[in-house]
Amino acid sequence: KKKAFLFDLDGVIVDTAKFHYLAWRNLAKEMNFDFTEEQNELFKGVSRVRSLEILLDLASYDATQEQKDRWLIQKNEEYLKYIKGMDDSEILPDVVRVLDFLEEKNQGIALGSASKNARPILTKLDLLDKFQAIVDGNDVTAAKPDPEVFLKGGEALKIERTDCIVFEDSIAGIQAANSAGMISIGIGEQDVLHEANYVFKDFTEMSNAFLLELIEA
Ligand code: G6P
Ligand code: MG
Repeated sequence: KKKAFLFDLDGVIVDTAKFHYLAWRNLAKEMNFDFTEEQNELFKGVSRVRSLEILLDLASYDATQEQKDRWLIQKNEEYLKYIKGMDDSEILPDVVRVLDFLEEKNQGIALGSASKNARPILTKLDLLDKFQAIVDGNDVTAAKPDPEVFLKGGEALKIERTDCIVFEDSIAGIQAANSAGMISIGIGEQDVLHEANYVFKDFTEMSNAFLLELIEA
């Protein structure tokens, strides 16, 4: 059966999650706030604007709109510096094996990311043509955990939501997939992503046999 496999980008296809974290942490320093990796879990999958709001809240910092706009630009400029020299060697292990297997089985493959930088990143990774549809931060109005990004991905591939499978490294993304009525697969730690239907540490732990079961279910 033809299913739709919807991939998050940051932290699933490539380890840009660490660069987002570094850029937010440096911004937090300007608020005299020590932003921890544990707090960062709540930022994963969340849009840039929403992330800044959460950071200001955590830091109990009152900023003017002007200051917020400046910080949003600053954060993205720093992030872009980190990913400037990125190439296909930074694709996470076995991502290409999974993409190729799904393609060979004629499955739908789409990207569902909150990032506005998704297309340039996929281009750097030379993965753009592996995706039949791309839904990113430029296409959605509601951020994860709202299901919009994945619903649009499923629609773009013309696959019913119950036949959609989402790969996500973030709590917000797993919640988005669940509330879309899709199958959620966490990529990361079980204790963080316990709301997912399945959790794998990374794609090396996910066999083709498992993918085949999802396709045939
Ligand atoms: C992804 C990441 C978040 C990031 C968001 C927006 O969901 O997990 O950490 O803040 O995209 O990314 P952008 O590249 O548009 O700032
Ligand atoms: Mg992610």
